Formats: sequence, structure tokens, C-alpha cells
Amino acid sequence: MSHPPHPPLPRWIGHRGAAERAPENTLASLRRAAADGAQWVEFDLRLTADGRPVLLHDATLERTTNGCGPLAAQRWADLRGLDAGSWFGHDFRGEAIPSLAQALECCAALGLGANLELKAEAGGEDALVAAVAEALEKCQVPVIVSAFEIEALECAARRMPKIARGLLCHGAPIDAGHRARALGCASVHVAEGALDLERSIALRADGASLLAYTVNDCARARALYEFGVAAVFTDDPARFAAAF
Ligand code: G3P
Ligand code: MG
Repeated sequence: MSHPPHPPLPRWIGHRGAAERAPENTLASLRRAAADGAQWVEFDLRLTADGRPVLLHDATLERTTNGCGPLAAQRWADLRGLDAGSWFGHDFRGEAIPSLAQALECCAALGLGANLELKAEAGGEDALVAAVAEALEKCQVPVIVSAFEIEALECAARRMPKIARGLLCHGAPIDAGHRARALGCASVHVAEGALDLERSIALRADGASLLAYTVNDCARARALYEFGVAAVFTDDPARFAAAF
């Protein structure tokens, strides 16, 4: 298994773009993050029925678009007309679900690095990873990929061995750093609320960089940095750009 190191990371990364100020996982959100001072963004990737990776957090369309049902049952052509902005605010009416290719093009134009979070359906890990690997082939954007699912990380190690991987965890299990390194991951991404100094030291003991989600309070971010957290994911890049 490959063990690629991650590219240099900033201290904070825009979560789903700038999720507090623009509709998450849209190009407007990526642009807002960049305009607000972000150097990197995180976004979530799922695969359409016809094999296109697109930006969406939930498995279904209802919460963040005017569509309904599982994203995995929809073809790209059917998704393109959906409105992924109005739920957030009238100013974003007509904002579309972006494809990964569009998001990478946007990141390249804005000088953003990107954490691509793989949200694969069970059994669909290899198909998602293969499509992401293809999209990254000619891409110059600095990236890391992350996933909660071990299968997705194993597929990533096979399909794109040079791209740095991060193990995502619910909470902050004490063995997560060790498991991350065993999977060839350069970083471990944990829930910030579960972190204290002792847990942070344990998570970094095997050499993984420690990243924490989702931190919207700058005082909490400062405490996490003191624990040894390398970077946090925040919904509000503007607040972090002003503070750090
Ligand atoms: O990548 C950090 C964070 O986005 C993981 O959780 O559910 O917000 O995608 P979620
Ligand atoms: Mg995410």
C-alpha cells in the first residue's frame, strides 16, 4: 500500500466551501470561501447513476436541492436543472449541483487546494474512486482525499496511489491514528468535540497529521492548535481569516 504524504495544509479549511455563508457544496460556496480568504476547501463527492462524481453531502436530494430521492438513482443530465441554492437563500436561486470536474476547474481558477471527501454507496466505492481518479489525472490542484469508509480508502490507495489520503472518523476513537497509518493515510480527521490534549497526543503518536471538523469558534480552534491539531474545517472562512 502506498503512503503518500499530504501537501502543505493551511491551519483552516473551508467546510463544504463556506457553508455558513453560501449553499454548501456549490461553486458559489467555493467562490465565497476563496473570496473570504480560504486557501483550501473541503467538499463531498457522490456518484450519479451514470458514473459522474458530483458535489453533494446527503445521499438524497431533498435537503439541499429542489429534487427528491437518492442521488445515486439520478443521471447527470437530470441533475443539471436542479436548484441547489434556493434552500439557502433567494440570492442563490438557480445555483447548480456541480460536477467534480467543474469544482476542480473552479479551484484551479481560484488557487484553492481541495479535500475531496468520498461518500460512496456501500459496494460503490471502486466506481466512485475510479471516476475521481480519472478527474484528477490532469488536475494541478493540490488535493487530499478522505473517507469514513475503509473500503473507499483502500480503493483510493490502488487507483490513485500518489494522492494523499485521510481517514475520517465519527468521534475521535483512540486507535484512529494507528488505523490511519495502517491504511497508508497521512492524516486522521476527527470530530472536534471529542478532542482534548491527551486524546490529541494519542491520535498523533503514529505520525498522522490531526485534522478536526467542524470548528466555527476561533477560541476553540486556538485550543485545538495547542493540542497539536494541524488544521480545522470551518463553515466560516471569513471569521477565521479575520482571526488568524
Ligand atoms: O471532512 C470533514 C467533514 O466534512 C466530515 O463530515 O458529514 O460534514 O461530511 P461531513
Ligand atoms: Mg464532508
